[in-house]
Amino acid sequence: MATCWPEPIVSVQSLSQTGVPTVPNRYVKPAHQRPVFNTTQSDAEMEIPVLDMDDVWGKPEGLRLVRSACEEWGFFQMVNHGVNHSLMESVRGAWREFFELPLDEKRKYANSPDTYEGYGSRLGVVKDAKLDWSDYFFLNYLPSSIRSPSKWPSQPPKIRELIEEYGEEVKKLCERLTETLSESLGLEPNHLMKALGGEDKVGASLRTNYYPKCPQPHLTLGLSSHSDPGGITILLPDEKVAGLQVRRCDGWITVKSVPNALIVNIGDQIQILSNGIYKSVEHQVIVNSGMERVSLAFFYNPRSDIPIGPIEELVTENRPALYKPIRFDEYRSLIRQKGPCGKNQVDSLLLSR
Ligand code: OGA
Ligand code: NI
Repeated sequence: MATCWPEPIVSVQSLSQTGVPTVPNRYVKPAHQRPVFNTTQSDAEMEIPVLDMDDVWGKPEGLRLVRSACEEWGFFQMVNHGVNHSLMESVRGAWREFFELPLDEKRKYANSPDTYEGYGSRLGVVKDAKLDWSDYFFLNYLPSSIRSPSKWPSQPPKIRELIEEYGEEVKKLCERLTETLSESLGLEPNHLMKALGGEDKVGASLRTNYYPKCPQPHLTLGLSSHSDPGGITILLPDEKVAGLQVRRCDGWITVKSVPNALIVNIGDQIQILSNGIYKSVEHQVIVNSGMERVSLAFFYNPRSDIPIGPIEELVTENRPALYKPIRFDEYRSLIRQKGPCGKNQVDSLLLSR
């Protein structure tokens, strides 16, 4: 893996703060990738499913709702998810304060492409790639053996504690969701967790995304189209500013987040494990000229050193194995080289028949 970036890193936030009137060429996407803002009336009415988790946990009807959301959308919003609302607000607020610190302070945490841990502004090491209009901070959370709070921001003062507290709650939520996903696939409640490598061996990381204001939002993207490489993603969106778009047929649906909801989406590893029954759906982020946007993506991943392939019980004569097994560390390193690339990575594992 490359140990340094192919070009000097430019913080998009500081670029935005200089008041550039136009988007520099390296952020201008080719015409076919540029975002579409004006959705038709029918698109505008379409929404990803919103599930009240009180109607889901332990309820047969809830399993059906989860199944249909994961088969059809790969995304849903959760309300009554059990994560403390004021904690959500505090951790997001602390990250916002971190990004408001002077560049020199943030630069102390500058990351490199070998682990991605720290403060960064690009995904992928492809030279001359078109870049996304965002900065981020990436950190490892699980397994706890690789958690190193000393690499996390030390300012604002409470941020490390808040990250730990939030991480703990979201981890529990992911464990519960893993059981529910397992049952919704017709498996024993603990089957999926075992396939992921077991509760004490799974991985998790947190990426806080910062999308600065952009002078020409129609020319670029905050985050290019991708599916999440891992297992399950729990997204805490900005409380005020929309931006996440989810692929629906040939178009994109802009998510209108429900107050205090968390957004869950299926990653490539669950698509593989479920033998394609559940979909990791492409998504992207649009930016705007008026407001910056902050989001926290918690990635819940399989143990990284075991092959992940379709679960045997989900392989049948009518539905032969669709994907060839791959270890998550290998899968992730491919993504880390290429950066966001739609669904190309998971599609490359398709077995030809
Ligand atoms: C991600 C992601 C969406 C958002 O971090 O993988 O898709 O709204 N984020 O920031
Ligand atoms: Ni994503």
